[in-house]
This record gives sequence, C-alpha cells and structure tokens, in this order.
Amino acid sequence: VIKVPFPQNEPQLSYAPGTPERARLKAALEEIAGKQLEIPLVIGGKEVRTGNLGKVVMPHDHQHVLAEYHIAGEAEIKQAIAAALEARKRWQQLRWEERAAIFLKAADLLAGKYRHLMNAASMQSTSKNAFQAEIDAACELIDFLRFNVYYASKIYEEQPLHHSRGVWNFVQHRPLEGFVFAVTPFNFTAIAGNLPTAPAIMGNVALWKPASSCVYTPWLFMQILREAGLPDGVINFIPGRGAQMGEIVLKDPNLAGIHFTGSTAVFQEMWKTVGENIARYKGYPRIVGETGGKDFVFAHESADVPRLVTALVRGAFEYQGQKCSAASRAYIPASLWGGVRKGLEEQLSRVKMGPPSDFTNLVNAVIDKGAFRDITGYIDYAKKSEDAEIIIGGGYDDSKGYFIEPTVILAKTPRFKTMVEEIFGPVLTIYVYDKESYEEALELCDQSSAYGLTGAIFAREREAVSLALAKLENAAGNFYINDKPTGAVVGQQPFGGSRASGTNDKAGSPLNLMRWVTPRTVKETF
Ligand code: SER
Repeated sequence: VIKVPFPQNEPQLSYAPGTPERARLKAALEEIAGKQLEIPLVIGGKEVRTGNLGKVVMPHDHQHVLAEYHIAGEAEIKQAIAAALEARKRWQQLRWEERAAIFLKAADLLAGKYRHLMNAASMQSTSKNAFQAEIDAACELIDFLRFNVYYASKIYEEQPLHHSRGVWNFVQHRPLEGFVFAVTPFNFTAIAGNLPTAPAIMGNVALWKPASSCVYTPWLFMQILREAGLPDGVINFIPGRGAQMGEIVLKDPNLAGIHFTGSTAVFQEMWKTVGENIARYKGYPRIVGETGGKDFVFAHESADVPRLVTALVRGAFEYQGQKCSAASRAYIPASLWGGVRKGLEEQLSRVKMGPPSDFTNLVNAVIDKGAFRDITGYIDYAKKSEDAEIIIGGGYDDSKGYFIEPTVILAKTPRFKTMVEEIFGPVLTIYVYDKESYEEALELCDQSSAYGLTGAIFAREREAVSLALAKLENAAGNFYINDKPTGAVVGQQPFGGSRASGTNDKAGSPLNLMRWVTPRTVKETF
C-alpha cells in the first residue's frame, strides 16, 4: 500500500476588496444569476430527463429561477439501482489507489478550476455569504476528499494481526455487498458531496438523492466527479421526492447502507422501514446518520464576556442559524447578563442583512418558504408568550426573499418552547440562571434536550470546565471550550453527535469509512 501523506487543510481565500479572487467570484455570481440551467438526472453515466421539473430559486429573491431540475420517478429510481449494481462489478475490483486518484483529482479541480463557480452557485442557490460558501463548498468539501483518501490508506495498510508458525492471517476491507443510499441536506454542499463519495472511496456504489432545496451545487460537483474520471454508475444522481424514493430504495434487497444528513423525523422513519423489511436484505444495512440538534452555549461566571458574545453572534447567526451545529440556546449566569446583553445589542446592531452579492451582508435569507414559515412561527409564539421577551430582532419579510432578522429571545423559564425545540434558523434563546447553582444549571442543560450534537462551555476556571465536561458527557458529540459550537474542520474536529442527533460516526474520519467496508479475515495454514 502506498503511503499517503497527512493532508493539509485547504487554505481559505479571503475575498477581500481588490483581491483577484473577489473579481472572479463576482463574475461567477453574475454568470450563475444570468442564465437558467437545466439539471438532468445522471444514471449509469447518462443524463436522463423526465420532464417532471422542480425549480431552484434564489432564497433571497424567490422569483428568480436559477435552474430547473428533472425529478426521478419510479422507473428512474429502479434504473439507478440497476446501474449502480452493474457498475459495482468493476468498481470493487479496482485497486484502491486508482479509486483514490479520482477523488484527489476532483479535489484539485474544485480547489482550482471550479472553485469560484461552485462558491457562486452556493451563494446564489442557498443564500450563503462568500465566507460561508468558501469554508463549505470549497474548503470543507476538498478536505473531505483528501482526508478520506488518507484515512482509507490507513485502513488498507493496517494489518495488526499475529502470525504463528505455519499460519498467515490477513484482513481484507471489502466494499459492502449492494449499494449505499446517500440522502443529503441543503445546508452544506460539503456534507452533500461527502455522503456519496465516502462510501465510494471504499469501493461502494451509491444512489445520491440531494435535498430539493439544494440541487445546484450537488449537480456541479457531480460533473466535477465525472471530469475527474468517476466511472459511469458508481454514483447515480437522482433528485426526487423523498417519500417515493424511500419506498423503492429502502425495500430493495441490495440496500447495503444509508448515509444520511437531514431531519430526525425522516431518519427515524428510515430506521423503521429498514426494521420492517429486515428479512429482505442480503445483510444488515449500515445506517449512518446525522440529524437535528439543540446546540448550547453555556457560560460560567468566570467566562470572558467579549469572547462569549462573539461566539454567540457567530455561532447563532452565521448562515442564518441553519447549521446543524448552530448555537440555539444559551445559559448565562445573572452576574454576567448585563454585559452579555449589551455586547449582543452592540454587535448585532452592526450586522447587515441582504443578498450575498453584496459582500457586506453577513446575514442572508433562509432557505425556503417552509423554513420561513416554521422559524417565524417560533418568533410569533415568543412574541405572544408571557414567559419570554424578544430583546433583539424579531422582524421578518418574505416579499422578495426569505429574510428573518437575527433574533434573541430571553426566556423566563428554562424549558420555554424555543429553549428546547430545534428551530433551524436565526433565533437564539437565552436563559439567565440565578436561582440554580452552576451544577444545577448544567444538569438543566443536559436534560432539556433529547439531542446531543454540539455545545460550548465558556469559563476561565479549569474546575468549571471539568465539571461541564463531566455533567454534559453525552450532551454534545462536538464539545467546544471557549469557542463557538460551529465550524468543525475535517482532520481537526471530526464531526457528529449522539442521542437523537445521529449515530455519531464522525464525518471525515476513519470511523465513518469503516462503516462502508465489510472486513473478511483470512487464515491460511502452510
Ligand atoms: N460541520 C458543521 C459545523 O461544524 C456542521 O455540519 O459547523
């Protein structure tokens, strides 16, 4: 096995005024906005058009249609399964180094030739600012590809087996027997790209169903993979209706794995369907998923207030709070509350909201009408409640785009609705603890949510940090000390949560890749 060096994280471009990357990104933004794309399915390497069309619109200008995409029906879903199984025969025979080359080439194409187009598509079709697009659709996706190749090399080279006289042992890390169903979210193009490629790097074939609200960047990435030499049928791109697709795909005897990021409700439905059909499959499908969160920021009275405030603003409101890792509830001791409130008011008064083409807008639109309705429903609920007060923001307007102001709710009770339910939008709810001791407040934080994705503790006293680590042992799969709970970097903070937040198989890690192999132990005697 060839030695793959530990990769470097892809450096972020700044897009500062006057830089060449800024000019190129601006041009790409105009290119994306100025033409309407037609997005086909890709099945067995062939572009397929069903004529049943969905629309990709700009969330910040919802009358502006960027693309129409073809929606897979029953026939295409079945064709995709057949194409994947056909491709599997050759793909699994390929040496892993050859598979790796394809994904490394895709990473290079994305880092160079296609970076600005991809970022512009991400900005226009999912309403991300330039920085949020760059760290996701460029850097994180590039990192996923390069680090997964590195981790794969480690898995293949690791043979920690004992040999006795006359006996030779080895393990073969073979791909799963069947296909993997990759179901991807709207909020990170990096995650969308990782879910089908991680199993493919390990020799698997996949069906890729992108979220209806994020088809554009997955389509671009699909083309990059093809340009990099991905053989026909290894990944089949099939936008479609989740429920219909699940009915067919999840009951297929060749279903070997599910790689999912999305809502808790959908993930639980998938588990149920797999459970009900368990006798149909060749094996036990691997189910790997990352779902919701109710991510917290918890402050001890020794916290550094300016750092805490910045973490709250960035953690809660970057990408409009639509990161699964976004800070959504905060626990602040009464002794710090005056300073924290003032800091939030000051910082948020400077935050501008609008379309991403104006680079001074930190906050853009939420993804679609459904999200707008759900998030503003929570804001309205808080407005009417006697148990809460909206202290910052609370305004919204969907006349042109789905804009919601960064909103801070002060909850008078620790289990107020917006303190415990996932909102997935630019809404931060704060509970000021006074009656409770630090330890009691930590317990409250631990027990107020069924999720366990991310969380942060702010404290300068080490003992307070240690107590938080102990009391919040399963409350966060990604735990941050004196930092915001978002922005995990591949190769630095493997990402994933437990409890209702998912199977915690850490995206971009050897643990994740191991889920896509079925090892065979071979003993030979001489
Ligand atoms: N990986 C992202 C983050 O850490 C969330 O999916 O913010």
